Amino acid sequence: MSDIPVAERAARIEYAIRDVVVPATALEAEGHEIIKLNIGDPIAYPGLPTPKHMIQAFQDSLARGETGYSPSYGLPALRIAIAKDENGKGWNCTPEDVYVCHGVTEALQIIFTATLEAGTKVLAPGPHYPPYMAYPQLFGAQTVEYRLDADDGWRVDFADIESKMDESVRLLVLINPNNPTGNVANAEDIDRLISIAEKWPNCMIIADEIYDELDFTGTQTSVASRSNSVPVFTLNGVSKVYYAPGWRIGYMALHDPMGRLGAVKDGIERLLRSRLCASTPAQMGYLSGLSGSKDWMQGYTQKVLSHRDLCLQRISKIEGLEVQSPGGAFYMFVRLTDPKWANDDKKFVLDLLHEEHVLLVHGSGFSEEMGKGHFRLVYLADSDVLNEAFDRIDRFLQHSR
Ligand SMILES: Cc1ncc(COP(=O)(O)O)c(C=O)c1O
Repeated sequence: MSDIPVAERAARIEYAIRDVVVPATALEAEGHEIIKLNIGDPIAYPGLPTPKHMIQAFQDSLARGETGYSPSYGLPALRIAIAKDENGKGWNCTPEDVYVCHGVTEALQIIFTATLEAGTKVLAPGPHYPPYMAYPQLFGAQTVEYRLDADDGWRVDFADIESKMDESVRLLVLINPNNPTGNVANAEDIDRLISIAEKWPNCMIIADEIYDELDFTGTQTSVASRSNSVPVFTLNGVSKVYYAPGWRIGYMALHDPMGRLGAVKDGIERLLRSRLCASTPAQMGYLSGLSGSKDWMQGYTQKVLSHRDLCLQRISKIEGLEVQSPGGAFYMFVRLTDPKWANDDKKFVLDLLHEEHVLLVHGSGFSEEMGKGHFRLVYLADSDVLNEAFDRIDRFLQHSR
């Protein structure tokens, strides 16, 4: 008998970051050791553990037997703490504006489900974190990319946004700091973005600020704090700057300055109720991170920054590589200057994996058009490991010329 058919929409989904793991796992099964610089999970690298007080709070919650369902929109104490944290970023967020989800990823699925219809569009940065391309098509919508300027620190190209806006654009996305480029948008950039969006009454902004505290420029700004007109979905959570991605806790916070999101809010709440709730003890762990001292964060950020500097220094000495210095997050989007690889970044990544056992992610996995000719590197590994990886990348590039 032939195979039972898969739904077309599922067969089209790609997630480059995990797709390259398949050949790496096969090599590992043959006994090879792979240097993995592919995954944006701080826990996959040594020296950046989830803070102890957060783990303790998670464990205490379990010990108290808090293993039941929790309210669909999130634990009230956590919604209060998140609203307070967002207040600190400069806008009037109330606990009722906050909805706790299984990570930003679930928040995105809910926002797209509540706002997209067939024929509508999401305008997202190119390159971008893959779900911004993968999910909208499930609703018959389309993701259109706006350009980040590869020669100017991956800054947002506002003229490109303007040329791509039309009535069908429901969501304009800013990832700040950006994954995979590390670009940080400042207040002036955000004001320009808002002034473009406000010309289109049905357009809302998604502000993915999950790397906001990993900002080396000191200029990262909350989009909600700048908007008096355009509705903003602020996204954040425990995964990156609180170093606990496996807990799967994040949130959306709705900023509705003109009071126009009543129907959307109702749709979001229906969706949230229909999927029950986020993990109860994990919410308690996040609560402790938000309400406790954040002094520990500075040491973590310094460590990440020193790794960034090491990578910048190594890349500057390798023929065949170029990079724009990232202002935040923990990624580098490195340009392959040799035309042989610039035209086939996926082959570069796979050949490097097979010959030198270093795992990166091909840039075209973050945008076929705007990411090609690049690779993404996560620079959280130890300096010895990073140095070894660069030795191997250098050797591979020089051999393959
Ligand atoms: C820009 C961006 N948003 C969201 C996520 C995922 O967030 P979460 O773990 O909260 O689902 C990632 C993970 O890499 C990311 O890079």
